[in-house]
Amino acid sequence: MSPPRKVLVWDIPTRVFHWLLVILVITSFVSVKIGGNAMALHMWSGYAVLALLLFRIVWGFIGGWHARFASFISGPGAIISYLGQMLNKNGKKHLGHNPLGGWSVILMLLALLVQATTGLFANDEIATTGPLADRVAESTSLLLTRIHRINEWVLIALVVTHIAAILFYYFYKKDNLVHPMIWGRKTWHEDARDGHASSIKAAVIVAIAAAAVYLIVK
Ligand code: HEM
Ligand code: HEM
Repeated sequence: MSPPRKVLVWDIPTRVFHWLLVILVITSFVSVKIGGNAMALHMWSGYAVLALLLFRIVWGFIGGWHARFASFISGPGAIISYLGQMLNKNGKKHLGHNPLGGWSVILMLLALLVQATTGLFANDEIATTGPLADRVAESTSLLLTRIHRINEWVLIALVVTHIAAILFYYFYKKDNLVHPMIWGRKTWHEDARDGHASSIKAAVIVAIAAAAVYLIVK
């Protein structure tokens, strides 16, 4: 075993992405429950979530190593072997997302993408309509609105599981995953790839993603 060293797991853009996403998803939920004038905020935070998701998809191909899909999408073998030792307190540690966590990340990103895109076509039949609602037949808009409402529960289930997994790691496995999601680094004994990536490159992608969302909704 090599001496412990600090390895960068989460590049700055991935961390900023995560915490902005948390703030914006909470804003989306709170604003829609307030309703009325807060629906404008609901739509704006939804657009911002959409731009963040477009960024994250691109970042999954060209971001820091541990943020890349290729580094954390695993096959059934890895998942079964992970499940087999999940309750072992001294089991194998993972620098980036573990095999199960990797898939939960994909599911969260997909569910959020469904939520933000169906929102564009949603229609509450009172005062608020998404910017693309009148581009489709009314029946389509109402169907997408239903998906937007049902998917709320999918999102809640995924986020509750996500937080439960982090608490499980913290209390049971004595592994604090939140610290690296804030500060970026983990203490690691084995050889490992560093997760550095250019924040300027990320800023360019975010700008393009935001422009794309603007063009879609304007
Ligand atoms: C609305 C709520 C949340 C959503 C939608 C969400 C979503 C996500 C996503 C998409 C990732 C993957 C990051 C990436 O690779 O880009 C992630 C990872 C992570 N999230 Fe969250 N998150 C939420 C709340 C939280 C909260 C409240 C905490 C902690 C207090 C947290 C802690 C973490 C940690 C530690 C990771 C890294 C897990 C690992 O090491 O594999 N998240 N989250
Ligand atoms: C992450 C993004 C989003 C989340 C988490 C989210 C969440 C929700 C939830 C939970 C509801 C159901 C409220 C209820 O019936 O109690 C809702 C309704 C609605 N959302 Fe979103 N939303 C998002 C994005 C968007 C976007 C981008 C738009 C449009 C630009 C939008 C437009 C609407 C409309 C018009 C409704 C009312 C539909 C109805 O239930 O009658 N949402 N949203």
